[in-house]
Amino acid sequence: MSYPYQITSLAQYHEVYKQSIENPEKFWGDIAMHFRWKKHFDQVLDWNFTEPKIEWFKGGKMNITENCLDRWAETQPHTPAIVWESNDPEEHHRSISYKELLFKVNQFANVLKNNGAKKGDRICIYMPMVPELAIAVLACARIGAIHSVIFGGFSAQSIADRINDAECNIVVTADGGYRGNKEIPLKSVMDEALIQCRSVQKVIVLTRTRTPVSMLKGKEVWWEDEIKKVETAGNPFCEAEAMDAEDELFILYTSGSTGKPKGVVHSCAGYMVYTNYTFVNVFQYQPGDIHFCTADIGWITGHSYIVYGPLSAGATTLMFEGIPTWPDAGRFWDIVDKYKVNILYTAPTAIRSLMSFGLDYVKHKDLSSLKVLGSVGEPINEEAWNWFHEHIGKGNCPIVDTWWQTETGGIMISNLAGITPHKATYATLPLPGVCPLLVDEHGYPIPGGDASLAEMPKQTVSGNLCISHPWPSIIRTTYGDHERCRQTYFSTYQNMYFTGDGCLRDVEGNYRITGRVDDVLNVSGHRIGTAELENAINRHTGVVESAIVGYPHDIKGQGIYAYVIFSGVMDDKNLITQDINQTVARLIGAIAKPDKIQFVTGLPKTRSGKIMRRILRKIAEGDTENLGDISTLLDPGVVENIIRERL
Ligand code: WT7
Repeated sequence: MSYPYQITSLAQYHEVYKQSIENPEKFWGDIAMHFRWKKHFDQVLDWNFTEPKIEWFKGGKMNITENCLDRWAETQPHTPAIVWESNDPEEHHRSISYKELLFKVNQFANVLKNNGAKKGDRICIYMPMVPELAIAVLACARIGAIHSVIFGGFSAQSIADRINDAECNIVVTADGGYRGNKEIPLKSVMDEALIQCRSVQKVIVLTRTRTPVSMLKGKEVWWEDEIKKVETAGNPFCEAEAMDAEDELFILYTSGSTGKPKGVVHSCAGYMVYTNYTFVNVFQYQPGDIHFCTADIGWITGHSYIVYGPLSAGATTLMFEGIPTWPDAGRFWDIVDKYKVNILYTAPTAIRSLMSFGLDYVKHKDLSSLKVLGSVGEPINEEAWNWFHEHIGKGNCPIVDTWWQTETGGIMISNLAGITPHKATYATLPLPGVCPLLVDEHGYPIPGGDASLAEMPKQTVSGNLCISHPWPSIIRTTYGDHERCRQTYFSTYQNMYFTGDGCLRDVEGNYRITGRVDDVLNVSGHRIGTAELENAINRHTGVVESAIVGYPHDIKGQGIYAYVIFSGVMDDKNLITQDINQTVARLIGAIAKPDKIQFVTGLPKTRSGKIMRRILRKIAEGDTENLGDISTLLDPGVVENIIRERL
């Protein structure tokens, strides 16, 4: 196995980048030839950003699972595809070869069919991080059903909203899941969600914790029983559905600046080509390497760099069920040691958290197998970068700082491990085929803000980060509401995809992402929409109004600061704070609970009634001296009150 399109030198990167920009269709068309097609495509790209309409590899027919499974099961059947480490370090690990994984995916694909699943159906997956989660995802793709994976930390209400938005007819879940010393009752949470979901006809339940669960006859079936039926029936093979290149592969919900999460839609062929290409090039994967991405498959990072990217490359992907701090803060390093991990891809928030436990947990762990380290999800601060580099990489491992988004499907800006230089706190250079462009607030390109060689900047410039040309795994639509997709990403600036991020570009052309410029927070690498959170808090009895802002947080990157006007009886502030937190956990999930809730009598508003978030942000940050002009406020007095009672 080798990857003819793997870039192996800095000079080659520059050459390939140039070609990819001059002739993107030839570039991606050539790469796409290295995949298995049922019918070859007629046209590489058809697009406009006004509708938007983006079609890659038009006319082609394929199935992503043939590329992730069949072709490797034929050429390297015994190579481990998934290696799984349980939450419990004592529980026996599992290693599933390509041949076995193909078999299991076929089996479960038949289970789905036996339970009424058809091409185009939306199937909700709400499972712990066990191999069966990856198997369920791939089984959907095998039969052409669209998977919608929901992270195990979301509440019943969030699940119901997502199931209803996509009108899922089947749910795949488990009785429960283990996370550290906790047991999460997944099926019970799902039961509560399903009270609101009329579209769901079948629920398939995997046994993981064997916690007591209710199972309704006819509608709810055990995973294991269904597998037995397939076994008894004999031939478990399931022909991979011939998918159009642009057929939908999955929906993944993510928060934005409005109140309702949106279903980001990715399609089959472009997503496959791009996640594979970026996996092979960014991490410089070599045959036999063990790749450990610590994300959950419930997020895009897990979709792209635990499942599809690695498997489409015939790689060995390590899946970990637990959390970094259990049984102690050395868990990641134990795993690296145990499996001789070569590539470790994690998040700045995890690094900062593990840093805070001190070096005792790193000492005496053999980390010498590591070749490449990766970071994703939020800007990585210099201190965390240095710690990661020195104490985990022992100064020998390049760190890839990978900038991308749920909507981009794969890594967009990153160094290539050991090939292009890393630079602390910089995502560095765009991947081939990616055209970043910095614009001012009116959408005018900032000189020196793009990668055109004619315009090398003389100094660092800053602007809003846009991408001016489609790449294969760009978002295709927001499920059920194409206009929302257009408005959110393609209308702020004409003929450009707008990322929502602010960005710097230095004189060498390296990009440094500075954070969101919209009303979206990044808390421990998770996206929290302020409007969505305010809506949830406002539904709590007694709450009149609320405003959410972010503030710098040592571990989480950003913490959540809530200003709340409360009209109910304030008998015990502490209890009411907890009550509000319960409401947030109920409506969204525990990940969205505010770190601080300050009760206020009024919010700083302009005469037209707009909340001045800039002021609230400054106060939350502790910068109460430089609030700027507050004379335009309806009632400047509220500011003093807020400052006085700042938490
Ligand atoms: C937002 C996307 C894509 C993986 C996980 C998050 C921020 C992501 C970086 C990075 C600075 C980063 C951006 C982006 N972000 N990676 N390397 N450096 N910021 O996916 O939930 O879709 O969030 O995460 O602000 O817009 P997501």
